Amino acid sequence: MDSCRITRVVLLIITFLSLFVSLSESNQFCDAGIGYGESTCTVASTSPSKILIKGGTVVNAHYQEVADVYIEDGVIVAVQKNIVVGDGVKIIDATGKYVMPGGIDPHTHLAMEFMGTETIDDFFSGQAAALAGGTTMHIDFVIPVKGSLSAGFEAYVKKAERAAMDYGFHMAITKWDETVSREMEIMVKEKGINSFKFFLAYKGSLMISDELLLEGFKKCKSLGALPMVHAENGDAVFEGQKRMIELGVTGPEGHALSRPPALEGEATSRAIRLAGFVNTPLYVVHVMSIDAMEEIAKARKSGQKVIGEPVVSGLVLNDTVLWDPDFQTAAKFVMSPPIRAPGHGKALQAALSTGVLQLVGTDHCTFNSTQKALGIDDFRKIPNGVNGLEERMHLVWDTMVVSGQISVTDFVRVTSTDCARIFNIYPRKGAILVGSDADIIILNPNSSFHISSNSHHSRSDTNVYEGRKGKGKVEVTIAGGEIVWENDELKAVPGSGKYIKMPPFNYLYDGIEKADADYLSSLQAPVIRSVRTA
Ligand code: URP
Ligand code: ZN
Ligand code: ZN
Repeated sequence: MDSCRITRVVLLIITFLSLFVSLSESNQFCDAGIGYGESTCTVASTSPSKILIKGGTVVNAHYQEVADVYIEDGVIVAVQKNIVVGDGVKIIDATGKYVMPGGIDPHTHLAMEFMGTETIDDFFSGQAAALAGGTTMHIDFVIPVKGSLSAGFEAYVKKAERAAMDYGFHMAITKWDETVSREMEIMVKEKGINSFKFFLAYKGSLMISDELLLEGFKKCKSLGALPMVHAENGDAVFEGQKRMIELGVTGPEGHALSRPPALEGEATSRAIRLAGFVNTPLYVVHVMSIDAMEEIAKARKSGQKVIGEPVVSGLVLNDTVLWDPDFQTAAKFVMSPPIRAPGHGKALQAALSTGVLQLVGTDHCTFNSTQKALGIDDFRKIPNGVNGLEERMHLVWDTMVVSGQISVTDFVRVTSTDCARIFNIYPRKGAILVGSDADIIILNPNSSFHISSNSHHSRSDTNVYEGRKGKGKVEVTIAGGEIVWENDELKAVPGSGKYIKMPPFNYLYDGIEKADADYLSSLQAPVIRSVRTA
């Protein structure tokens, strides 16, 4: 075993032991309603629930079986047939239903300051929406404050004070100097961050250079952290935007036209090749096009450690909506990289079903119609982002499982387990195993869902999936051992969510040292040359 692997195994054991650390003491229960964050709260009983889920099909990423699941103090205590319990235990009959790990969304932006405004969903309303849709943990992107990682981290700790479910952080890197390099170390070794995002787009704000990307890759590798990229060529996007404005295209369709798939393909290829050059694993966020997906497929086929994350919007929507004559209708779909032409989504679904892409995120980054209207005269000013936290599980189930493209076990893998593995918190999260956190959903395959901004829990007044209906419904969500969603009623508890520290050196780091050693020994350099004498 190389030293990375030993470190990983030790950290996994520590993570697993920490399962037995007690739950948060907060016990406020809040009523559901529109504008969920504004709901009133009352103090409820103090003891964590004992729950027995009876007779369901328990699904993990590697197997499924009919079994009972018993939960106590926020932890799964038993998974077996015919569990018998005494009084004081809440019993849920799950016969004919699936009992699965709560979803983990690897990609969200809650309370994010972006493009001159701030996302309408904060850590409470975004998480309330997530819980109603069967997601029990998410990983949000900390944006540094004036380049400072520590200031950014502190700001996000504050933003997350009203968290109603567990969450972790990625960190964006927006500039480079010795301080940033040192702070990355602190983030990994002390703050529980094991992934850093580099934006190759958003010229003039978040975008970084290839030089910075290389420095960042090297630093991530030395820390065992996972570099992530937003892969679009920001210089070319800037040029594309100018071109559209010169052509008089100022509406939302200009957004799609200014940043075509080729620019995503180019940046994805560049990031992959530079990651290969440094010999570091790489995670490509929001893969939206065939062009980017094919670069990932090629790299993975050659043995490179690249993870590709499609997002729900990219899987199920297409860009025709950006041509809608009504500005508000079109603008709500503006996100980056853009939602693509018909055909891309289907290809991304196929890539997900064959393992070319690994896990599904949302890139939940919501702005209401008033905020989207900032770009009424110029698509470049429309805040980029769409919703998805509440809808992801249902849409992936309907699009991928009901259609027969993936199995139920694969559903668990792409919505939960692989995220937990990649960010090194498995099996605490992403599994229904004895000792795992009691983050569990019960999905009824014979029921159905219907998406509408009239009933969703996000604070946004619009929903990009408005009117969608499908088979399969999350009927119960249990987060941290408490029932938070049942009978269409939400009981999210502000302050009950825990920050989940994520250790470095995930499984992708296995073999990296060996590859470096092989590379060095393959160089046949420096050549020792004899000094010529005259
Ligand atoms: O449009 C998007 N994706 N907004 C959020 C920021 C990002 O690029 O992830
Ligand atoms: Zn991005
Ligand atoms: Zn994002």
